[in-house]
Formats: sequence, structure tokens, C-alpha cells
Amino acid sequence: MRDDFPFFNRNKSIVYLDTAATSQTLYTVLEDTTDFYTYHKSNAHRSGHSMDTWVDQKYYLAKEKVAKYVGVAEPDKSIVFTSGATQGLHDAVKLIEKAMPGGTLYLGIDAHHSLSLPIMELAKNNPWWTISYINLNSQGMLDLDALEQTIKADTNKCKVIAVGAVSNVLGKENDLARIKDIAHANAANTIIDAAQLVGKRKVNLSGFDFVAWSWHKVYGPTGLGCLVIDPVWLSYKPVHPGGGSVVSVSYADIIWQENAGRFESGTQNLAGIVTIPRLIDWLESHSSDIEHHDKSMARLANANVPVNQFHQASESDTGLLSLLPVAGAVEDYVMLLDAKGVMVRGGKLCAQPLVDQITSNSALLRLSWGCYTTANEIESTFDKLGDIHAKFQRNVLRPAIAG
Ligand code: ALA
Repeated sequence: MRDDFPFFNRNKSIVYLDTAATSQTLYTVLEDTTDFYTYHKSNAHRSGHSMDTWVDQKYYLAKEKVAKYVGVAEPDKSIVFTSGATQGLHDAVKLIEKAMPGGTLYLGIDAHHSLSLPIMELAKNNPWWTISYINLNSQGMLDLDALEQTIKADTNKCKVIAVGAVSNVLGKENDLARIKDIAHANAANTIIDAAQLVGKRKVNLSGFDFVAWSWHKVYGPTGLGCLVIDPVWLSYKPVHPGGGSVVSVSYADIIWQENAGRFESGTQNLAGIVTIPRLIDWLESHSSDIEHHDKSMARLANANVPVNQFHQASESDTGLLSLLPVAGAVEDYVMLLDAKGVMVRGGKLCAQPLVDQITSNSALLRLSWGCYTTANEIESTFDKLGDIHAKFQRNVLRPAIAG
């Protein structure tokens, strides 16, 4: 699979272990982006000429492929193109706010800020909403037993379960099937952040109210995401009214589009959307290899952590592993690895409440892999981490650098 990513041919000295932040790009995406800008750039759904029609066809094909890939029916009514997971999750919270007077927001303690911030803002600005946090169980996954008990006893009419499918700090896969069952049994609405799951596992995202992800983490373009919606939400007005969201406007009345386009005002990221059909074909044809490879990378990373040098935030299931160094500061490890050509992420990982629970330093060091990562890259990075640790341990690095 690595040969399908031109980045690695051009950058042979780089070890890229920051795929959870953004992935490298599949060759078909590079080809299709260039093709669009070179030969086909035109708007969609507007002009009626043949170049517009070419883009329209790709746009509808992309929706069909996405719907089939994630197991939902009615592509036109279920798939919204967004700018990314952040916009999708924000819009989902706004629709909940429009639809309901107040109630309980069940928020996963491991949520990324893109989900936790709009939920926290909703509760802060509206006294009729309260947040009930879903804590982690002893395996580092959302405690769904506790959620089930609490939500059953909840007398509020409106309940919303807002969770990440995979934590971007812990690399633990939460049980989406059970979350769906709990939601249905308790008439709760669901908002799912699937940014760290889509592309790693073949998933079925049907039966939720909202599921969001970004394509730039799935070997695709930046500035493009999908929000899968339950078509019942099409009875609500757009969060961002504007061009493309309507079928008819007069000074007296507005008739909104009946399909999911009502939530896509303005010109979509068409250069990104036209790359989706071939990207999904590639993901479908490699899905078993991707999953097998991802699990083997997780096993390898878990097995290589030198426990006397680093505390592991959790045993990884997928995609990433976060570490807390015993000696030295996270920021210094990021810089010193960078000097050795290894790209990792350090800091609060856009999930500060959880990171603060794990460490008083408010920072973790995260290694994250993709389908192109080799075992040798993981092993050699742990060797380098060991060397850096040894320098901190022996005080070879000055205390000022070590923090
Ligand atoms: N959500 C991305 C990450 O976790 C940016 O790094």
C-alpha cells in the first residue's frame, strides 16, 4: 500500500507518525485534484452547461459511494458534504438546539474538542440543557454500563448521546453498536465523531442521528468532511442558509431543498469531492489489508513501549499510541524526534480535559500510523525515544532544555 502514496517516494528520510492529525495522500486523490483544476473546474448544480454537468455527476457519484461505504441508504438524503468533522459536529449540535427545548447531553469524557466545545457551549448558554459526562471504564473505553443505568433513570424527555467512536488520545474503540442500542432503547439522539475510525475499519454508520468525519485523515483532501444524517433531520431549516440550500425564494417565502443539499450552502469543496469516488474504490479494495495492518501496528507499538521510560496512556486498539515520558518534557521529545526526521504530535491533543486527567503536565506524546507505516518505522522510533530518554536520564541534556 505504501507505494500508492507518492509522499514517501519524495521524502525517503521522513518517518511520518502523525496520521491521526492528518494522513498522507493517496495517488488517485492527487491525480483527480490536478485533473479537476486542469480540465474540469466549474461549479456544480448551477449553470446547466456541460462542464457543470460533469461536476454534478461526480458529486452524486461521490455521495452514492460514501453511502454504500458506510452502509446507509438514500445518499441524497443522508450524506452532507462539510468542511470537515468540526463543521459536521458543530452543525449537528446546532440542529439539536433548534429541535429541542433542553434536556441531558451525555458527553464522552474522551471527546475531541470539536465535539466537546459545541456541547459545552450549548449547556453554558442555555440553562435547560445539562451535561452528564460518560466516564471511562477500567479498559479505557466509555463506560456504557454506567451510561445505560444513568440514562434509564433520566426523566428528561430530550436526551442526546455525543461521543467519539475512537479516542484521539487513547486509540480505544468505543462500542458503537451498543451505543446505538442504548440510544434506541432510551429514545436518545446520537452525535458520533468518527474521525479516528473511518478508513481504519469497515463500518456501518446507519441508525445514528449524526456521524461526522474528515477526509484528510483518510488519505484524502483537506477541507472536506462528511456528515451522515438521519433523513428525519431534513424537516429542519439549514444551519447556514444560503446559495444552493433552496429550490425557490420570493420576498414572501423560502422553499428549502428537500435533500441533504439544504445543509451545504455555498460552493462545496468540489476539488475534494471529485476525488472521493476513486478514493473509496481504493479503500474498499484494501479494507481487509488496512484493518489487518492497523491492528498489527497497534500490537507492535503496545509491545515496544519501554515501561520504565514511558507511561502508556492506554493499550492501543487502533491508529495511535500516547505516551508520557518519565524523564524530560513532551515538547522536547517532539523537537528531538523531529531533528531525527520523525514526525509525531505532542501536547493537549485537542482533548484537554482527558489529557489533564491522565497527566498533571497537560501534555502527551502521540505516535500515530497509517496503512503506509512500516514495522521498522515504529521500532526505530522507539529506539530513538529510548536514546532521548537516556540523555534526559543522564542529564546530558541541560535541565533548562529538559524542562
Ligand atoms: N484531531 C486531530 C488530532 O487528534 C487534529 O491530532
